[in-house]
Amino acid sequence: MSVTIGTPLQSSAFKVLLLGSGELGKEVVISLQRLGVEVHAADRYDHAPAMQVAHFSHTLNMADAEELKQLIKQIQPNLIVPEIEAIATQVLVEIEEQNIATVIPSAKAVNLTMNREGIRRLAAEELGLPTSAYRFADSLESFRAACDDIGYPNFVKPVMSSSGKGQSRVKSFAEVDAAWDYAQTGGRVNQGKVIVESKIDFDFEITLLTVRAKNSETGVIETSFCDPIGHRQDSGDYVESWQPQAMTPAALEESKRIANKVTVALGGCGIFGVELFVKGDKVWFSEVSPRPHDTGLVTLASQFQSEFELHARAILGLPVNTARHSTAASAVIYAGVDDTNLSFSGLNLALANPNTDLRLFGKPEGFKRRRMGVATARAETTDQARELAEQTVQHISVHQN
Ligand SMILES: Nc1ncnc2c1ncn2[C@@H]1O[C@H](COP(=O)(O)OP(=O)(O)O)[C@@H](O)[C@H]1O
Ligand SMILES: [Mg+2]
Repeated sequence: MSVTIGTPLQSSAFKVLLLGSGELGKEVVISLQRLGVEVHAADRYDHAPAMQVAHFSHTLNMADAEELKQLIKQIQPNLIVPEIEAIATQVLVEIEEQNIATVIPSAKAVNLTMNREGIRRLAAEELGLPTSAYRFADSLESFRAACDDIGYPNFVKPVMSSSGKGQSRVKSFAEVDAAWDYAQTGGRVNQGKVIVESKIDFDFEITLLTVRAKNSETGVIETSFCDPIGHRQDSGDYVESWQPQAMTPAALEESKRIANKVTVALGGCGIFGVELFVKGDKVWFSEVSPRPHDTGLVTLASQFQSEFELHARAILGLPVNTARHSTAASAVIYAGVDDTNLSFSGLNLALANPNTDLRLFGKPEGFKRRRMGVATARAETTDQARELAEQTVQHISVHQN
């Protein structure tokens, strides 16, 4: 059955509830608004980026099952679109079971990917995909044993964490106890469980944006891929990305095989950011977001339909086009200070080159390492695009008021 879009703010409205209202959600909301969808944006704080472009805003603790249930009951959305991981995902499982709303891409996907253990066991143990060697530990003693088992250096991550929080690279046994203490501070839930991963010695890492969308004629869900996105991470946070990332045909084929397998297992419609490590022809699965990916901000400059438009179309059951028209890069703009009410200048210089563009997210509060905006640039080669995106960022100054 194909989707019918009503009129926002009237009884026929087609309603989307966005859970998490950051900068990625903001772009998704803009895409949904263009298609006449009524959008409700929720987050734990007022004036979050996506709230500023939605019809309605809701501030609540989304990790609280009762508060979340209440909100869903009040809005009665057609679709629930999680934008972050820190939500009471068990509620979404119930909502899906009771056919109250469609959870994007599926309650299973949201539930499994919010916990590193769920997605790792699915990928490695059920689907047999290549990953780093790993162990789970939930006490200092079992953690010491896991580290010795995996060897050094290794990567330690709280199973319930994202964006580098509580993560460390452990170089020797002497660092093990400190890594445990650090991991305990970075998890969303203080349950203490961590994953210890062997270090993969990759040439580069990519995000393979993978879209599951309905064929407009048959209604069957089909998988399509954007060109691979290369990126550079600093302390678990992305600082720049570019598209396309050059790789061997064999590595690209293997990347698509892995991405297809994991996204089919997660199910539903929408975009997925599949993170992969690549060395020569060899590819390892790292993790997957069942939603737009931060490194995919580059697609605002490189594709006919950005990852946000692709997500909006796919979740509405509409056709998608993953074609790229340009080589491009993105670079992050940080606050550089801990303060609210910040101002940004130098935009005139940043945008003087016709191949550059900017997004300022409008976050009410900045922290030194908080992402406040992004610059994008198009060029002949990815190296030139990266350089131009970086120059664009350099033109922007952040001021306290
Ligand atoms: N096993 C590993 N081997 C090598 N590098 C890793 C490994 N795990 C993580 N990294 C590096 O750390 C970054 C963040 O790790 P990731 O698991 O993606 O955490 P997050 O959920 O915070 O994004 C990766 O993009 C990669 O650069
Ligand atoms: Mg990651």
